[in-house]
Amino acid sequence: MIKNDLFLRALKGETVQRPPVWMMRQAGRYLPEFIALRDKYDFFTRCQTPELAAEITVQPIRRIAPDAAILFSDILVIPQAMGIDVEMKPNFGPYLPNPIRTIQDVEKVIVPDVHETLGYVFDAIKLTKEMLNDEVPLIGFAGSPWTIMCYAVEGQGSKSFDKAKGFCFSHPEAAHVLLQKITDTTILYLKEKVKSGVDAVQIFDSWGGMLSPVDYQEFSWKYINQIIEALADDAPVIVFGKGCWFALGEMGKSRASALGVDWTCSPRNARYLSGGNITLQGNFDPSRLLSPIPVIKKMVHEMIDEFGKDKYIVNLGHGILPNIPVDHAKAFIDAVKEYNQ
Ligand code: CP3
Repeated sequence: MIKNDLFLRALKGETVQRPPVWMMRQAGRYLPEFIALRDKYDFFTRCQTPELAAEITVQPIRRIAPDAAILFSDILVIPQAMGIDVEMKPNFGPYLPNPIRTIQDVEKVIVPDVHETLGYVFDAIKLTKEMLNDEVPLIGFAGSPWTIMCYAVEGQGSKSFDKAKGFCFSHPEAAHVLLQKITDTTILYLKEKVKSGVDAVQIFDSWGGMLSPVDYQEFSWKYINQIIEALADDAPVIVFGKGCWFALGEMGKSRASALGVDWTCSPRNARYLSGGNITLQGNFDPSRLLSPIPVIKKMVHEMIDEFGKDKYIVNLGHGILPNIPVDHAKAFIDAVKEYNQ
């Protein structure tokens, strides 16, 4: 039994004393102890070495004590396992030297044996669970098929992912074959993550908001929903769609346990759009953590008041930024623990 089960209770929609809190990308670059390891080991070495991944996962638990841990890894381990080369260049981000541009490229992409290609992730989960000692739950994650396809086609990060969108609209059959291969791999991967010990999974649709509402249904939501359906009996599923407020209605009718919201959608509007019954997660503007600590605390309390303390998981509206002082990150977590109705 997990000692602090606030997060799992909020996912079930149970009444809680206060909402749980964690931060997207909490295992990361705002922490000096993370930077010390980053300077010693390159990115994929950190992902592929269970001892390093587990250590990085528990760093924020020790330092700022959120109510859940998220496994240190990356969404791009999936395309890597599918035979697409992925590099992580310092000060640049992901770089895929052989991007997918044709149906022939898509045909070469494999749905791998996840034990063979991603066994290091499952080992990292088992080790992390031991280190967490049932103090807090562990979250596993994957990118949405659309967000993974964005990188696979674009070959790097982008402000608009025009090449990925262009591929969908000019080669829709090929795009759907690729999206289905990513979906099949992701289902196998997340099921094995749950078997290895994660207590919930989150799907990051970081670039869903690049699509129009109509295209979102066809190229993103359809595949996310397959993943939800395949996982819902195994573990709670959280879907975070950056910029995807327009899809909250459809998402609210799915078997997801919670929906992530970014800061451009008000809590009230997110409740209304999602149908009012499903647990919501979010949505503090990550840049707002640069405000003075008393302002952060006041705004966090106002945010909880507006979402309501139940069926709610406090989080940022996207990942924490590298320039956030650690005491400000801690103030965000503490503000939630100090919340009194
Ligand atoms: O939440 C956590 O703390 C777990 C760690 C985590 C990482 N990546 C580690 C990471 C998670 C949940 C991710 C997911 C991820 N990766 C997403 C979805 C979430 C989001 O932010 O939208 C995306 C789009 C990626 C792809 C990716 N990985 C990019 C664009 C970059 C470069 C930009 C950046 O954030 O630095 C990465 C690299 C990456 N992934 C880093 C970390 C800590 C920084 C590089 C490093 O540590 O060397």
